[in-house]
Amino acid sequence: MLDRFDRSIDYLRLSVTDRCNLRCIYCMPAEGVPLVRHKDILTYNEIAEFTRIAVGKGITKVRITGGEPLVRKNITILVRMISDIPGIRDLSMTTNGVLLKEHAVDLKEAGLHRVNVSLDSVDEGRFTAITRGGNVKDVIEGIDAAINAGLTPVKINCVIKNSTEEKDALEVTEFCHRKGLEIRYIRQMDLVKGHFYPVDGGDGGRCQSCNRLRLTANGMLKPCLFSDIEIDIRKTGYEKAILEAIQMKPECGIRNLTGSFYNIGG
Ligand code: 5AD
Ligand code: SF4
Repeated sequence: MLDRFDRSIDYLRLSVTDRCNLRCIYCMPAEGVPLVRHKDILTYNEIAEFTRIAVGKGITKVRITGGEPLVRKNITILVRMISDIPGIRDLSMTTNGVLLKEHAVDLKEAGLHRVNVSLDSVDEGRFTAITRGGNVKDVIEGIDAAINAGLTPVKINCVIKNSTEEKDALEVTEFCHRKGLEIRYIRQMDLVKGHFYPVDGGDGGRCQSCNRLRLTANGMLKPCLFSDIEIDIRKTGYEKAILEAIQMKPECGIRNLTGSFYNIGG
């Protein structure tokens, strides 16, 4: 469907949980965050039914995000339910990769096409510092498992402070070249202050060609990452929520005081 600014809205990002097994310094406070109550989290039936209706309205690309999507129980069941919907030509997941080693084959069999893995440093100590406790070996094994399972092309998301010439970024770039992986650099953003940037190597952050809707784990449909506009799909009804979100999608986002990356899924 086209929005008011003639943008074709064909991309839906589903955040399936606000929980995460890491605590990246730019994303979450060390002590964690107040989590959404279990009863507020959409069930797999609700997510799949919503997605089916969204595909009927023109969505052809779906990405599963979090928090960390692989910490939600039986996530492969949801992947199967979504991949069974006719009309989706690209089904992907954004993950921190920590649990990918154990899930890669099952995800592929359930119909996932590909994964994007977040990796800001390949240095063990730096990775542990940035993620407040993560082990880069888990992620590298996860990336290898994804390649072997055919969840390709595997793309790497690398958050940078200011430039791709920073030491961590250079080392991740080298790692990607060695493995033949695509890399996109994401400048650290601040939703509240309205600091946001286009993704280098990706197509996020360009308002003029923005094609996305985002669904949070508790059922709020958001037409723009950098706006507070959200529609409760349970209260509004799925079809009406989609039409309203497309209608209300702003020409350009300014800032977001109500959401965060861990619950909107970036
Ligand atoms: N700025 C930019 N990217 C962020 N992410 C999380 N928080 C931020 C932020 N403040 C990214 C993660 C991951 C994706 C889900 O969102 O690094 O790649
Ligand atoms: Fe978790 Fe991703 Fe946030 Fe890191 S950036 S804490 S991996 S959700």
